[in-house]
Amino acid sequence: MHTLTDRLAGRAAVVTGAGSGIGRATALRLAAEGAAVTALDVVPASLESLAAEAAADAAAYGGRVRTAPVDIADEGSVVEAVGAAVAAHGRLDALVNAAAIHYGDHTHATTLERWNRILTVNLTGTFLVTREALPALLESPHGGVVVNFSSTSAFFAHPYMAAYSASKGAIMSFTHALALEYADRGLRAVSVVPGGVETPITGQTPANLPADVDWDKFAKLMPVLGRGTFGGPDDVAGVVAMLVSDDGRYVTGTEIRIDGGTHM
Ligand SMILES: NC(=O)c1ccc[n+]([C@@H]2O[C@H](COP(=O)([O-])OP(=O)(O)OC[C@H]3O[C@@H](n4cnc5c(N)ncnc54)[C@H](O)[C@@H]3O)[C@@H](O)[C@H]2O)c1
Repeated sequence: MHTLTDRLAGRAAVVTGAGSGIGRATALRLAAEGAAVTALDVVPASLESLAAEAAADAAAYGGRVRTAPVDIADEGSVVEAVGAAVAAHGRLDALVNAAAIHYGDHTHATTLERWNRILTVNLTGTFLVTREALPALLESPHGGVVVNFSSTSAFFAHPYMAAYSASKGAIMSFTHALALEYADRGLRAVSVVPGGVETPITGQTPANLPADVDWDKFAKLMPVLGRGTFGGPDDVAGVVAMLVSDDGRYVTGTEIRIDGGTHM
């Protein structure tokens, strides 16, 4: 990677879904640019490996990665984890809501339990973490920033993903409302819209699709950059770091699509 700046020095950030994939890359990227980061995830083992990775490269991360468990679908867990993060850092300047789950189903075969689970983790979880972080974000002298994770499935047809797509579309609407509601208090709220990024979620997608999946329906879902290969978590993490920094100071209430040109 090219030499990074310290444009986030003195900032504190919370990143959810930080044990894996894009959230993990984002937690490390924010720390590498100088932020003190609390990395939250529901899988303890993934947090242990993140902590070890950060500790192994003190030159890059400077001991700035703190890890803690959270289940964003559990209100009590979110209250405790976000409260502890704000207390540990003494402030909060940025929140990145990357945690999510994904299952594919025929819509006619989707159980209410599965529908509710996807909406609860992805959408309600994003709301709960944001709600708990807002009081501290609104105190940030830099202007607090919320970066939420939507998905190209919110804008373009992705088969078998009705619940997931609906959760990601709602996250975008939620983000718009936040951006206007708190703009006069210096807060910015932006959604990133990834697509075609190689992570455990995309790796597990084939196994999570119906047994009679029609692959022709995925014909329009391949990136054009990289000759059909997927991008990597760092391709998204760098954009999130820009949004969190002052380089993103004129960006709010909108979305940035990062999909290798899949949906041109
Ligand atoms: N990879 C892609 O191509 C792609 C495309 C569109 C959107 N996204 C979005 O990017 C974000 C990151 O996904 P990823 O691709 O890195 O997947 P990932 O599976 O690698 O990471 C998701 C993380 O969220 C965590 N998580 C799940 N449920 C949780 C809960 N209840 N509480 C706390 N943490 C929980 C998981 O443990 C995991 O570490 C997600 O919001 C995803 O929807 C990814």
